[in-house]
Amino acid sequence: MPARVSMILTLLLAMALGIALTIWLYGTRQLVYEEVTAARRVAEQWLEALVANATRDGTAAIDTVLPQLVAVGRLRANSLNVYDASGALRYRSPESTWKAGRVAPRWFAALTDPRVPSLPFALADGRIELVPDTSRAVLDAWDQLRAALGWSVALLVLVWFGTHSALRRAFAPLTAIDAALRRGADGRFDQRLPRYRFGEIDRIAASYNRLAETLDESRVRNRQLEQDQAVAQTVQARLEEERRTMAGELHDELGQAITAVRAIAGAIRQRADDRPELAQSAEAILATTRQMQDGVDAILRRLRTPGGTACEHLERMVEDYCTQWAERHPDIALGCNAAAPGRVDDMLALAVLRLLQESLTNVARHAGARRVEVRLVVAAATLELSVRDDGRGLPDVSGSARYGLLGMEERVARHGGTLRFESMAGGGLSVCARLPLRAAVGANDATNA
Ligand SMILES: Nc1ncnc2c1ncn2[C@@H]1O[C@H](COP(=O)(O)OP(=O)(O)OP(=O)(O)O)[C@@H](O)[C@H]1O
Ligand SMILES: [Mg+2]
Repeated sequence: MPARVSMILTLLLAMALGIALTIWLYGTRQLVYEEVTAARRVAEQWLEALVANATRDGTAAIDTVLPQLVAVGRLRANSLNVYDASGALRYRSPESTWKAGRVAPRWFAALTDPRVPSLPFALADGRIELVPDTSRAVLDAWDQLRAALGWSVALLVLVWFGTHSALRRAFAPLTAIDAALRRGADGRFDQRLPRYRFGEIDRIAASYNRLAETLDESRVRNRQLEQDQAVAQTVQARLEEERRTMAGELHDELGQAITAVRAIAGAIRQRADDRPELAQSAEAILATTRQMQDGVDAILRRLRTPGGTACEHLERMVEDYCTQWAERHPDIALGCNAAAPGRVDDMLALAVLRLLQESLTNVARHAGARRVEVRLVVAAATLELSVRDDGRGLPDVSGSARYGLLGMEERVARHGGTLRFESMAGGGLSVCARLPLRAAVGANDATNA
């Protein structure tokens, strides 16, 4: 780039010098003409006077004028030739001693010679011819031109080297920026550019440094992220393994134990036709263990499929539990009104069931209520479960070491919902849980759901 720019500058300067040379040539031709014609005029006047005198004397003109011509010798910028009547040359004025023996090249003479015609002067027995001699003036011009050309070439060389080195110095920062950008294109942003004297280049370098800084930081962050992801994958793999182990244990231990209890309760139920109380208790055990079986199944599904499955019968689960609870607590009237959407997340359904279980258990244990109302509704993508009793209401339980209410609060929070305990106006407690249907929360611990 610097070489090309300095070459263009040098060529432009050479063109300007060429134009100046053309103008100079024209001016030189004019100067030569002026010089030669001025000298010729003087010589002409002198010769006219000389010839006039020689004619008046009536003597042979050549011999009269010749001694004077010889005495004068050379005329400035002109030469004199004397011819007799036969045309033979009788006399020629001496050659100029100025730069004797040298002549300008013919092409240059052709350009600068103004071609002034010679002047004849008639004598009685011959003629004098005044021949303009431009060769010396042209030679002077040629010498001037050679000197000027020498200086011009020196100037052009100087301009070329000067601009080339100045541009190289000016372009050096751009070369450094270009090298840094190339490194960046290969993904290496470890290089930083220095401050530069030129404002724009300094700003570009500063922008590059900021860009490199940012990219370097994000590269480090990406590397960290990759490491974190690898750790997370390892943890996830461990968790999966743990979940599978837990699922196996749950299935083999608890699941089989529940099945065994159900088998025993079923056998008792068959043999207790004549004892209604025993049959009723056996039915209650069967119902409760079915609930337990459902719960274990839901937990197992959750553990086996971490992405979550859908429960399609929350409504029935709530109604079934209410029916069984009412059978176990015939002295408390239970009203159940459940309306759930078609499909609910498995863990959400399990959470609703656990909240219902703890609430109704508390009613039975602490409320002294005669009536309890269970309500399950869906409004604005929120599942709302409320359990209201007409008992003694919630006493001050702060500092209490019981974990039922605490567990409910934690469970609701895991699903991104809210839990409210309200004392009813006429006595009694209202427990109201609101759970978002599509909550993305840490409700993954199936064992706690
Ligand atoms: N429906 C209710 N009516 C009146 N009091 C209640 C009701 N529900 C809870 N309580 C009171 O709140 C207290 C805390 O209840 P919580 O469920 O946390 O514990 P708990 O039922 O006593 O024991 P557990 O930890 O086994 O559940 C209870 O001891 C009880 O005094
Ligand atoms: Mg409780």
